[in-house]
Amino acid sequence: MANKSIAVLTSGGDAPGMNAAVRAVVRAGIYSGFDVYGVYKGYNGLLNGDVKKMDLRSVSDILSRGGTILYTARSKKFMQLEYQQQAAEFCRSLGIVGLVVIGGDGSFRGARALSNAGIPCVALPGTIDNDIACTDYTIGFDTAMNTAVEMIDKIRDTAQSHDRCSVVEVMGRHCGDIALETGIAVGATSIIVPEVEYDLEKDVISRIYEQKDTGKKHFIVIVAEGVGGSQEISHYIQHRTGIETRATILGHVQRGGSPSLRDRLMATTMGVAAVELLQKGNADGTVGNRVIGWRDGKIVDYDITEALEMPRKFNNHLYEVAMKVSI
Ligand code: F6P
Repeated sequence: MANKSIAVLTSGGDAPGMNAAVRAVVRAGIYSGFDVYGVYKGYNGLLNGDVKKMDLRSVSDILSRGGTILYTARSKKFMQLEYQQQAAEFCRSLGIVGLVVIGGDGSFRGARALSNAGIPCVALPGTIDNDIACTDYTIGFDTAMNTAVEMIDKIRDTAQSHDRCSVVEVMGRHCGDIALETGIAVGATSIIVPEVEYDLEKDVISRIYEQKDTGKKHFIVIVAEGVGGSQEISHYIQHRTGIETRATILGHVQRGGSPSLRDRLMATTMGVAAVELLQKGNADGTVGNRVIGWRDGKIVDYDITEALEMPRKFNNHLYEVAMKVSI
């Protein structure tokens, strides 16, 4: 009798560690007796028949590589019911009994739609933003922050040499986690995130003056992408303090590069958990429409709708920590 098949795809913005997750799904899938298909360019691959049967060696040497060997896309087409049904039909034609989707919350909605169309899906949180409520961690977050820290350390060297202020905008979409943790790690004077109301006079200018009074001469201000306006904030600081100020938007550099140990480990753990969930559900008929998360140091899984409706909690404690030390 032929093996049952599962498939794996990456969707949305790429994130370092996606390859490690693909590798884990392929290897754990084969280990568990499944045939495994790789689907190219996100959900579009299911609409265009762009898939390849993977073997153990198809995922060799990708653990340390950034990006995603399966390519990725944000598929507008796949938001329509007609195409979701077409994709489900295509999966059935290949005997695919489960799909692992690695991506952000937009990708989770696609996984829910495909589950509703009859193909059991398990979603893994893969995005640098760490903006998914049902998990304490998303694959790619650590590497993106390490890259940001490396870049900002370099910016600090030049800010220090000129006695300047540097305003650095980091990614994160609507989420301030990259800004918060990176800000702490680089010793920023101010960290501006969308989750905390801010006042430029109180939260930036006064802090710069207070630090100047104790002898500090160069300053780093971190602005989350969800707040934006780093150029305007930079002009304002220069105008109000007389300190020469420059703005840098770090941009897509944060999405690339070899994944950190944490991302490789989380991606591998989550990838294996996704296959286990598909395997378990396949045996008892309960599978599909689930998302894997990491909560309090353990793998958890939730119904996708339940996961999407969870409110995201900002780490206020960490924000207070930052405020206490950057004085
Ligand atoms: O979700 C990851 C992310 O890099 C966000 O931080 C950013 O807002 C967005 O994707 C950028 O998207 P794009 O690569 O399509 O410009």
